[in-house]
Amino acid sequence: CGIVGYVGPNDTVDVLINGLRRLEYRGYDSAGIAVVDEAGDLTVRKRSGKLARLEELLSESPVGEGHTGIGHTRWATHGGPTDANAHPHLGDNGKLALIHNGIVENFAELRAELEAAGVTLESETDTEVVAGILGREFARLGDLEAAFRAVVPRLHGTFTLLATHRDEPGKIVAARHHSPLVVGLGDGENFLGSDVAAFVSFTRRAVAVNEDNIAIITPDGVRVTDFAGAPVEYREFEVEWDAEAADKGGWSSFMAKEINEQPEAVANTVRGRIEGDHVVIPELEALGDDVLRGIDRIIIIACGTASYAGQVGAYAIEQWARIPVEVQLSHEFRYRDPVLSDRTMVISVSQSGETMDTLMAVKYAIERGVKTVSVCNTQSATIPRESDAAVYTHAGPEVAVASTKAFIAQITALYLIGLHLGRVRETLAPEDSAAAVAQFETLPEKVREAVETHDQIAQLAHWMADTRSVLFLGRHVGYPIALEGALKLKEIAYIHAEGFAAGELKHGPIALIDHGQPVFVLVPSPRTAPLMHSKIVSNIQEIRARGARVIAVVEKGDTSVLPYADDVIRLPLADALFEPLLQVVPLQWFALELSTAKGLDVDQPRNLAKSVTVE
Ligand code: G6P
Repeated sequence: CGIVGYVGPNDTVDVLINGLRRLEYRGYDSAGIAVVDEAGDLTVRKRSGKLARLEELLSESPVGEGHTGIGHTRWATHGGPTDANAHPHLGDNGKLALIHNGIVENFAELRAELEAAGVTLESETDTEVVAGILGREFARLGDLEAAFRAVVPRLHGTFTLLATHRDEPGKIVAARHHSPLVVGLGDGENFLGSDVAAFVSFTRRAVAVNEDNIAIITPDGVRVTDFAGAPVEYREFEVEWDAEAADKGGWSSFMAKEINEQPEAVANTVRGRIEGDHVVIPELEALGDDVLRGIDRIIIIACGTASYAGQVGAYAIEQWARIPVEVQLSHEFRYRDPVLSDRTMVISVSQSGETMDTLMAVKYAIERGVKTVSVCNTQSATIPRESDAAVYTHAGPEVAVASTKAFIAQITALYLIGLHLGRVRETLAPEDSAAAVAQFETLPEKVREAVETHDQIAQLAHWMADTRSVLFLGRHVGYPIALEGALKLKEIAYIHAEGFAAGELKHGPIALIDHGQPVFVLVPSPRTAPLMHSKIVSNIQEIRARGARVIAVVEKGDTSVLPYADDVIRLPLADALFEPLLQVVPLQWFALELSTAKGLDVDQPRNLAKSVTVE
């Protein structure tokens, strides 16, 4: 869920709506705001559906001008996406408003306590229960901060909570436990957000609130305490992203804009990390070369698209650093009682740095005494802050739910890590290091060429708008790209799609091939991977013989597939390990164009959220 809070002289509704618009990627099942107006009244407006529906409601029944307010955009957990379940929720007979990100696990017991006290609840949410309990504590103690200190230790689960009370205008109190919270520092005004996007239009000075802390903001000040009320010192940081970078500009969708930004995403992630023929990552150097030399195993943990970036990265790290690498889904990792030692390194990959499944896996690794490295796109997010080292991808803000430029930047960062480790461990031949560095130098231009496949793909998608199932085949580093191509289609075009290792097809899935079944095949270069190339050409013939419609993604000049392919997409030449960074681009376009052809919302697909902060 997305959370925003504001205290200051400007029109609160405007500030909250601006923040919610930038946070909508965190969930868009419903949205709501609460404002304390000049007359001292607390007004709530909330509605199921996207933010636009809340804006309609606000124009039908406006809220008086106020200078204190909180806003929420929801990804439903407890209770469906109805008006009643939307946040904010009220307590203390409508005098207190509360918004919440996370899940309160002991809500049933708290609910029973409230019901026994005669409080009637209107929603099915855990949040309304907390609002009720907090309201009762306010009534008893007469102070919002004291009420927070009384309630927060009683909550089990995960939460960021923001509340405001009619009797304390000009103040918002917030608490965090396993869920993100940042403060935005303004001049005579202050902000709260689940991430900096909430206030980046107004200020770039921010403070990341630590785990188990309470933040209190008024127009002239910010205080942070622990749950017991003891003051805590905080450190300010400057937000690198500007508001413009998070705007759609003239693009039809954020996803289209972000696909186009991929050349820069790669270039910015590489920048400052190459010295001559070598890769040097200062953040890894800080861990100490002895530590890096001692590592005997790497586990990459991630979810969704980030896990496919991890799978691609694993091939390169093994090849260059000669360390066994395995990739595990974050939410599976800790339940298998993994074999870990002080020579294991866990690398987490997360665009947001807030994915709860990944955060919990990282915490588990830390508890087990393992070195943790975070590959993350969001400055000062929780996962990089918890980890021993953070290697940031510099893709800039990614807003579309379906990840594109962050994916490419994640692969880039993992490759850089592989090259850094290979150099320190002396497993990487100098000529291989130089060759990889040379690839990085030309890569942004090649990604740009891959982006230019758009028109061809748009036509293809246009003809395929009625397709009900699409398969993707790849080998080696092309295999995770096949998985990613399929995930993109599921996410935004709601089409059944599957990715397979091309060699595995004959062991079962080939039975799916029927007349006209579209199959994308990622064909490795015949120059750099001749053996794999010839095998995949055989695979193409096998499926073609069974009626498949073959769309071959090849490097320019490879004519070997022409007799068997219905469509051919040509990409610039690159070394084998660098092909995935090009191959994924037409697959991203394909998903976008099919989604558009079906009239769907490319950026905000149903049921999903970009940043899933519950387990
Ligand atoms: C969600 C999103 C996916 C994303 C995954 C991991 O499930 O819908 O698009 O790949 O989270 O997100 P992260 O921020 O950890 O990279």
